[in-house]
Formats: sequence, C-alpha cells, structure tokens
Amino acid sequence: MALLEIRNLSQHFGGVAAVSRLDLDIFDSEILGLIGPNGAGKTTLFNVISGFYTPSTGSVALKGERVSGLRPDEIAKKGIGRTFQQTVLFMRSSVFDNVVTGFHMNYTSGLMNQFLHTRSAKDEENGIKKEAARILEFMGLSALKDELAQNLPHGHQRTLGICVALAANPQLLLLDEPLTGMNPTETLTTLDHIRQLKDRGITIIIVEHNMKAVMSLCERLVVLNHGEKIAEGKCEEIQDNKAVIEAYLGKERR
Ligand SMILES: Nc1ncnc2c1ncn2[C@@H]1O[C@H](COP(=O)(O)OP(=O)(O)O)[C@@H](O)[C@H]1O
Ligand SMILES: [Mg+2]
Repeated sequence: MALLEIRNLSQHFGGVAAVSRLDLDIFDSEILGLIGPNGAGKTTLFNVISGFYTPSTGSVALKGERVSGLRPDEIAKKGIGRTFQQTVLFMRSSVFDNVVTGFHMNYTSGLMNQFLHTRSAKDEENGIKKEAARILEFMGLSALKDELAQNLPHGHQRTLGICVALAANPQLLLLDEPLTGMNPTETLTTLDHIRQLKDRGITIIIVEHNMKAVMSLCERLVVLNHGEKIAEGKCEEIQDNKAVIEAYLGKERR
C-alpha cells in the first residue's frame, strides 16, 4: 500500500480548477519531485494534502486512513508536515523559540492536562527543548539558536522553516520550493539534509524549480500542468517526455 493515496482530487477556485481529477500514490521513504510551470497547482496540492483546503472532489488517505476533511493541526498530528513557499516564521522570536513553537502547535498537552498533571507538562517541556536542540543541530543551525529569526540570512530562514516542520515529527514532509534564494553552497547543504531526512525514514515530496537539484535528489517525478498530471516517471523518462518539454522544460532550456 502507498503511504499517501490521492484519488480523483480536485480543488476549484470559482471557475478555475487549480487541481483537477488527480490520482497519485506516494511511496514509503521516497523523495518525489513535483514539478510544473507557475500556476500548475503544486502549492494548492500541498494546501489540500495538509488540510488548509477541503478538496472540491476526491480524497487523500495516509496509510489507508482518510485525512482530507480534517483540520491542518489534526493532519499534522497524523504525521504530515510542510514548509511554505513564503517562509512563515515568528520573525521577532529566536531561532530556538521558533522550533519550540513548532512543537506546541502540534503536540502540546491540552490545557486541562497541564492543570491536572503539572509534572507531565514540565517533563514534556524539557523533552521538547531537547528535541528542538537536536533538530537545530541536525540542520546546522545550533550556533544561531539565540539569534532572532528576522536577523538570519534568507537561506537560513528557509532552513529554519524546515526545522519548524520537523518539530511535528512528520512521516511525510512537503517541501515547497525549499531552495529559493539559496546560494550554491546553501543549496548543496540543504540537498544533503533532505537526503539524510529520507535516510531517517521520512518520505518527502519536493516542489522545486531548480531542475538540476530535483534530478539529483529524486528517483521519481510527477509533472502538473493546469492542475492535471501530464507525466509521471523516472527522471530520465520525464526529461525525454514530449508533453513535459512543451509544457515546461522547453521554456526553461530556451
Ligand atoms: N486561494 C486561491 N484563490 C483563488 N485562486 C487560487 C488560490 N490559490 C491558488 N489559486 C490559483 O490556482 C492556480 C494554481 O496555483 P498554485 O497552486 O499556487 O500553483 P503553483 O504552486 O504550481 O505555482 C493558479 O491559477 C492560482 O491563481
Ligand atoms: Mg507554488
């Protein structure tokens, strides 16, 4: 069984079908590249998978259990994490506090629980701090943990966005253009981190315009155009696919 099963999924905005009758399987521990021109529906698909939109038709299931229709925080708890095309951070909070907040948004004991089991809330807080430190260490941001998010260079802000998503301990991670604004060194480091996340058993869907990076990272690509899947396959197959070249790659190469 696929980890994520998308069936007959459509998302309409007025008359526009941003995603149209999409069927897609995402398999355990793969890095799937989701590509397509601007406006193809990539971000909308992420918004539907992560519960920001309830789809107009169709369904999304994680490990056989329907998640479409649930709230974003409920879907996060089920194990789907995401980053945003425009990094969303608490700019006036520290790097460390941003990651801690990422935990709270997904994991905090209910308020009642905090009253009844003050001890367990305290233990949980300590556990969260340890885990936040571990994530920052893994993503190479430890030295900047006390810096305000707003003072980080753009590339580091995007890395922090990934750290916040990791705080939800996702099984599936959706990365929306994670390399945007990164210099070549930051790009290589981030690609390395993404591979390591996969090695730790996290399944990843990445939307990215840097085709060289996508080709180096992914075994399998899916191409969207006007909300429809126009191709799916191994990188080499996609590179030679006529419809894809016409819709997308051709424009990039010219
Ligand atoms: N909230 C929204 N309201 C109306 N139209 C939207 C909304 N979000 C996206 N769209 C439209 O859906 C289409 C797909 O957009 P998007 O998913 O952002 O594409 P991509 O991420 O592939 O560039 C575009 O035509 C866009 O204008
Ligand atoms: Mg987008």
